[in-house]
Amino acid sequence: MNNYQYKVTASGRVNLIGEHIDYCGGKVMPCALSLVTTVYVRENGSQIINLSWTTLPDKVSMDINRLEEYKSHKYAKYFAGCASLWKSAGHQLKGCDMLIDCKVPFGSGLSSSASIEVSALAAFAVIAGETPNPVEIALLAQKAEHEYAGVNCGIMDQYASACGRAGHAMLLDCKTLDCVYVPVNTGDYSIVIINSNKPHNLVESRYNERREETELALKLLSSKLNVTCLAEVKPCELEAHKSLLPPTVYKRAKHVVEECERVHLAEIAMRNKDMVQFGKLLNASHASLSELYEVTGKELDALAHIAQSHPACIGSRMTGGGFGGCTVSLVKTDAVDDFKQHVVREYKKQIGYDAVCYDTDINDGIVVTKC
Ligand code: GLA
Repeated sequence: MNNYQYKVTASGRVNLIGEHIDYCGGKVMPCALSLVTTVYVRENGSQIINLSWTTLPDKVSMDINRLEEYKSHKYAKYFAGCASLWKSAGHQLKGCDMLIDCKVPFGSGLSSSASIEVSALAAFAVIAGETPNPVEIALLAQKAEHEYAGVNCGIMDQYASACGRAGHAMLLDCKTLDCVYVPVNTGDYSIVIINSNKPHNLVESRYNERREETELALKLLSSKLNVTCLAEVKPCELEAHKSLLPPTVYKRAKHVVEECERVHLAEIAMRNKDMVQFGKLLNASHASLSELYEVTGKELDALAHIAQSHPACIGSRMTGGGFGGCTVSLVKTDAVDDFKQHVVREYKKQIGYDAVCYDTDINDGIVVTKC
């Protein structure tokens, strides 16, 4: 891409554990992936942002003074949203040409939209002559997701996409945004990501409904407990105040408080290189997301259970928002090929179509290089 000034990439992510708790102030453990969105960008001296894609025939030219007109464009809305928020945050927005190459599979639960938003914002920054500030970009990207994509998401995906570090998981406290980088030492085991190929769409799914249920749980529990977020509630406190909550809301809250405990144990297991314990926590997380939080569905349940049934697999769970998308599994490295074949074959038998395995590494978040 010789004619561009900069190549800006931002990662997709896999969340190892800590699911559906970022918006409850919990700690999560995502990793940025080598599946990335790349934006090639050059300043064009006009008031227009020209967008083109490597994988789409569409071309869109947006006037930077009339960005709201692109609010409902299927693909341009992310860029219009990010551009508008970038400007409102007090930065200079310059006319530019952007060529977008998204290698994070759409609807996979690996945060394709976060990687698009983060790479777009980082591209606006470099064109304005700034060094991208990853935390500010993550927060603006989350706002774009709320206001332009209609998903009332937490901060995990955008933070991981912007701030990831190669070879490390992030232990991100979603209440304070404190982040500790934990080296991913899986020893004899490999992390395997498999797509159920059941596309998930968080706008149409019950994602926002789950978030409302946890907000209701917090409201009801805080009449008796001195807490500011659901992640502060201990499992024994939830049990003691169970009668305050309608049964479904109780189930959602139970998932949240127990998942927070699992993240704590998973951090210890990772630091002790105790992968067997880590794997058990993955299985327990999946069961809770299936039975208590009800965000899996038959495809993700089949994929996780088939993975768990393979002798070389010590843990498997859905990752991301759920309702479709991917699983993450820990598998003995020398048996990964056999494991993949087993899962793809059995999944097709049960569900009727193919699952897809990805080969991916743990990457840095935003990376800017001169073309
Ligand atoms: C989606 C959201 C995240 C997080 C996960 C579930 O990926 O964007 O903020 O809530 O679901 O953990």
